[in-house]
Amino acid sequence: MEQGRASTTAQLVAGLRAAHYQSGEHPLVFEDPFAAHFTGGVFQAPLERGELQAYLDRMQLQPIQGGIVARARYAEDALERAIVEAGVRQLVLLGAGNDSFLLRRPDLLARIRVFELDHPDSQAEKRAKLRALGFADHPSACFVPVDFEQEPAGIALARHGFDPAVPAFFNWLGVVAYLTHEAISATLGSLRAVSAVGSRIVFDYPIAPQLLEREEDRLRSVEVSRSTAAVGEPRQARHVPEVLAKSVFALGYAVVEDLSPEALFARYFSGRGDGLRPNPENRLIQLCMI
Ligand SMILES: C[S@@+](CC[C@H](N)C(=O)[O-])C[C@H]1O[C@@H](n2cnc3c(N)ncnc32)[C@H](O)[C@@H]1O
Repeated sequence: MEQGRASTTAQLVAGLRAAHYQSGEHPLVFEDPFAAHFTGGVFQAPLERGELQAYLDRMQLQPIQGGIVARARYAEDALERAIVEAGVRQLVLLGAGNDSFLLRRPDLLARIRVFELDHPDSQAEKRAKLRALGFADHPSACFVPVDFEQEPAGIALARHGFDPAVPAFFNWLGVVAYLTHEAISATLGSLRAVSAVGSRIVFDYPIAPQLLEREEDRLRSVEVSRSTAAVGEPRQARHVPEVLAKSVFALGYAVVEDLSPEALFARYFSGRGDGLRPNPENRLIQLCMI
């Protein structure tokens, strides 16, 4: 990411959640009533007119939008299960962006501590928006500015009261694509070093281009890379699922699930009439610390 510039992609993905909340076919895949407060730029005017979904449909962004709402839904369902089944009492949003968890889930804030880690420029902008919405500091919320390319997340967390004895859930959505292989390994290794056995992590990752079978998916992938690079957020590492599984095992993780776009479609999208579908380029993985 460019220094001195808050994440534009974080603003855009909030817009995709906002459009789904405003105009998506019910039942919604994921409900984010606060997302509209965190978007802007080209999405602002169509959102205010109630036309953002139509705009996204014209731009053929349904697969990107579907991927974003599916990953958010999956991670929150997995968190709720982990609270009950694994005694999770700490949530860490890695590259939190405009995730509105702090506003959406006051019920869970009473039970878990929430750490929001993000690039310093993105976090400063997010905190200003939270304050504008009346969210003052909360005893359960801790904000940690960090650049994952410069400092492993586990080391930053250790400085901010993260408890290594209490199981944690890490939500790392929409971030891995922008990191180098080195930063991804350093992040996973450092988190494993400071976390209790049984802690979980969920992240989405782009697959290697040679694994994309359809020409239109390859072209969309090139277009997404071009547009994120244009806003100072170039995409970096891509992964082959089998290779990723071996490397995370070496870092102390077992794969709980590694969901293909087809599996996500079956879980969240079949029968929908609004054309929403998962991103063919991304898989969604859940790991457990062993
Ligand atoms: C596409 S947004 C995703 C935000 C959020 N997780 C979501 O799903 O809505 C990408 C986020 O990754 C963060 N990010 C990208 N590179 C980073 C880095 N090197 N260090 C810390 N955060 C980074 C950005 O600041 C931004 O908040």
